[in-house]
Amino acid sequence: MKDVVIEFDNVVKYYSLYHSFIGIKNFLFNLPKAIKTFKKNKFCALKNISFKLNRGETLAIIGQNGAGKSTILGLIAKVLKPTSGRVLVRGRVVGLLELSAGFHPDLTGYENIILNGILLGMTKKEILSKVNEIIEFSELKEFIYQPIRTYSSGMLARLGFSVAINVPADILLVDEVLAVGDINFQKKCYKKIEELKNKDTTIIFVSHDLEAVVKICSRCILLHQGEIIKDGNTYEVVEYYKKNFS
Ligand SMILES: Nc1ncnc2c1ncn2[C@@H]1O[C@H](COP(=O)(O)OP(=O)(O)OP(=O)(O)O)[C@@H](O)[C@H]1O
Ligand SMILES: [Mg+2]
Repeated sequence: MKDVVIEFDNVVKYYSLYHSFIGIKNFLFNLPKAIKTFKKNKFCALKNISFKLNRGETLAIIGQNGAGKSTILGLIAKVLKPTSGRVLVRGRVVGLLELSAGFHPDLTGYENIILNGILLGMTKKEILSKVNEIIEFSELKEFIYQPIRTYSSGMLARLGFSVAINVPADILLVDEVLAVGDINFQKKCYKKIEELKNKDTTIIFVSHDLEAVVKICSRCILLHQGEIIKDGNTYEVVEYYKKNFS
């Protein structure tokens, strides 16, 4: 039997939308109507999503802006909760979801590596044993001792990626961030991703860079307006996407 590490079972995710507030007086005088609109202002970002992912699979999730890709990653990383349905995740998840997630702007790159490692569930000893490898991978050199509020977005991506990719993980989530690194750094990251693939790490890669998607992933899910339109061989799904959505 295959080893399922991620399972989505009929997952629905609603977000509450912001309201243009009509003023307290109007709100009170039209209470039933106001409550109704308040309830109605929800947006369904994922509709009945079901899929299973086995250990060691490399899955790409593609689709237009707003399709729901990052929402799926957020549910796997448990920073979001499903409105209904079940999300099952087995193993340690390391995610690179947003450039500055888990980083503190006033701390140096070095301090942020330690902080991030601890947030990812490592002991201080574990992270200290990895810190040199992480700094070397990032190529940030002396900038590692500067507060990260002074970093460019590419430098932040280098720091985040270097941490994520050098800590032990069963499941690695990568959301777009690679796109801001320069060509050399991207190449290095792809090489590292290949190494992780060979080590049986499960990888979920979200990107608009379809070439990278084909290169890295064997399986691909195409999302459209919160629904799975296709799930299969990456090359075929990407071709379908290019033909029908561009
Ligand atoms: N916190 C939130 N509150 C309200 N709506 C949200 C929130 N986060 C996401 N959404 C909405 O949910 C939908 C899916 O968003 P999501 O970020 O998952 O899309 P995406 O596929 O990752 O898009 P992109 O390619 O632009 O990164 C979008 O319509 C977005 O506006
Ligand atoms: Mg996104």
